Amino acid sequence: MTCTTQLYTSKPTAFTHSSDIHEKIIPGLGTSHDSCADTIAGEIMDIYSRVVDFDRKELYYNPSNHPKTLFQRLDQVIALDVDDTTAKAILSSSGFNSAFDAITGFRSHYTAELEIEQANAILKSSDPWQSLKNFAYFQNYIELARTEFRGARLKAGDTVLFLGSGPLPLSLIVLCREHGLKGIGIEQEPDRVELSRRVIERLGLSDQIKIIKGNHLTLPIKEPTDLIMVAAQAEPKDVIFNHLAKATPTGTKISYRIYEKGLRRLLDTFSRYELPKNLKEYQRIRPTPPANNTSVFLSVGYA
Ligand SMILES: C[S@@+](CC[C@H](N)C(=O)[O-])C[C@H]1O[C@@H](n2cnc3c(N)ncnc32)[C@H](O)[C@@H]1O
Repeated sequence: MTCTTQLYTSKPTAFTHSSDIHEKIIPGLGTSHDSCADTIAGEIMDIYSRVVDFDRKELYYNPSNHPKTLFQRLDQVIALDVDDTTAKAILSSSGFNSAFDAITGFRSHYTAELEIEQANAILKSSDPWQSLKNFAYFQNYIELARTEFRGARLKAGDTVLFLGSGPLPLSLIVLCREHGLKGIGIEQEPDRVELSRRVIERLGLSDQIKIIKGNHLTLPIKEPTDLIMVAAQAEPKDVIFNHLAKATPTGTKISYRIYEKGLRRLLDTFSRYELPKNLKEYQRIRPTPPANNTSVFLSVGYA
């Protein structure tokens, strides 16, 4: 295991000041595998101890508890060059059970905040497309869309439905703009529905993309769809997939994105559920940089 990346860790109390943050270098090659794994586990648990209360805004006054700081620390730890077997071993510790939900919940919440900020920037910008391209993860979405267009064997003019389209429906925007598809987003939060509709209008895509206020139970819809995509943050996963397995016609194609590379599997909320038997995986495409997600493709079979 390569273990030479720098981590910023802090003392394990939730109320330390930023000056308490000290740089800790994960021991380089030649140090023991166990101490390296322990350092990573310690960093994850420290992030967990802070994100568990992240919606208590008063904690933000302490910079080491600010969501942006925690998001960056999390990004840094999951990007460490740790092979899949070692990552599985580190994350299989039972002590992590409650950390998973808190960390994925925090990340999902913070990602939505980033999307809201970017959506508002697009609405204000004199060059909305340039503003969209400035979004930190834009190139990741370009790569993911390419993979999904290919993996689902789509063609221009087909319709994709995205469950959990969010305040900035980037997946749909990129799929429609780059691959000539039509898009339908389903979003459960009314203010995000409204904001995303305004963004789509500002980008001149209202003829190609529409957003419906609803959730997984809104499916199936009347319009024929060639692919149903389930957002990585759509929840609850077991209810969503059980519903799709029962309510969508045989032959329906479904895709979703998982994190399975190294420590990124810390963010994965799919692998903890067993898919219903009639959802058959027909393809799985590992990520091409800068994308970090594996795309999984299913087809609805006979129940
Ligand atoms: C932050 S977005 C991420 C999608 C991203 N914008 C994209 O284009 O790939 C995830 C959204 O999923 C929504 N969501 C989560 N579960 C859902 C469900 N069961 N039905 C509808 N929306 C859901 C959340 O409200 C959130 O806005």
